[in-house]
Amino acid sequence: MNKILVTGSLGQIGTELVDYLRGIYGSANVIASGRRDKQDSSIVTEGPFELLDVTDPKKTENVVKNNRVNTIYHLASLLSATGEKDPQALWNINMNGLINVLEAARAQGCSVFYPSSIAVFGAESPKDKTPQVTITRPSTIYGISKVAGELLCDYYHMKYGFDIRGLRYPGIISNIALPGGGTTDYAVHIFYDAIKHGKHTCFLKEDTFLDFIYMPDALEGAVKLMEADPAKLRHRNAFNVTAMSITPKQLCAEIKKHRPEFTINYEIDPVRQDIADSWPNSIDDSAARSEWGWDPEYNLEKMTKDMLDVLSARLK
Ligand code: SER
Repeated sequence: MNKILVTGSLGQIGTELVDYLRGIYGSANVIASGRRDKQDSSIVTEGPFELLDVTDPKKTENVVKNNRVNTIYHLASLLSATGEKDPQALWNINMNGLINVLEAARAQGCSVFYPSSIAVFGAESPKDKTPQVTITRPSTIYGISKVAGELLCDYYHMKYGFDIRGLRYPGIISNIALPGGGTTDYAVHIFYDAIKHGKHTCFLKEDTFLDFIYMPDALEGAVKLMEADPAKLRHRNAFNVTAMSITPKQLCAEIKKHRPEFTINYEIDPVRQDIADSWPNSIDDSAARSEWGWDPEYNLEKMTKDMLDVLSARLK
């Protein structure tokens, strides 16, 4: 029987992953956790919830032990733009949080899911179809923490033999919880603005290519990887995954097909533009496809239609 702990449950991915996992494994078997308690969230009211700051090692171990957890989805993390405002806070949460989770997992014999990011790549990485294994010398503190995190996960696997798997997520587009402090966030805000105001001011240049996936694929991918036959995994951790490589201009054009009155203008944020420029235009996810069957359902057209349908029904 799976007993799962999700850290960072009230974030963009966690909010939906907890529901998704509860649907598969049963509500009582998925313990949500977060630094804050949000009583208006179904995450807190419809299943077990623990207040947990992963920078506290003792509390992290106790939550894992007391709930007899055997699998941890470790999502608690700060994102790229927030990290540039406070690099030391990012290091504390992303790195000390990770080692605390790995230590708790080691003590209790848990498997771990670790989300890495396209942020591990930097100016020296190939820009197009960036390979699974290539130069990873990022220029953001977030990217540095994710490279270090990937290596730490590999190290714990080699040294202690427990099961740690992970994906390098690109930007994730979703319609329940908003992302916070990321560089790819424009691709979520653009939909809310399209519906509420008919216009969006984008902080990236119109021709900035970045990879994205839609949340249903992000959730399915995580569970599919965790359930995959280990004998078929050559890489195990840090798999590149993507579903679309797009620019703000292309996303705007796709929204306009449904909402012709929609307009966009650009006010470039130099910090986030620099970050985006240091990341790939598109990544190669063939290892994920061949080793465990990554096969995203949503491309630009299908994701855009679904986002507009779901959000316009909700925000009406
Ligand atoms: N979505 C993240 C960010 O923009 C990338 O992993 O920071």
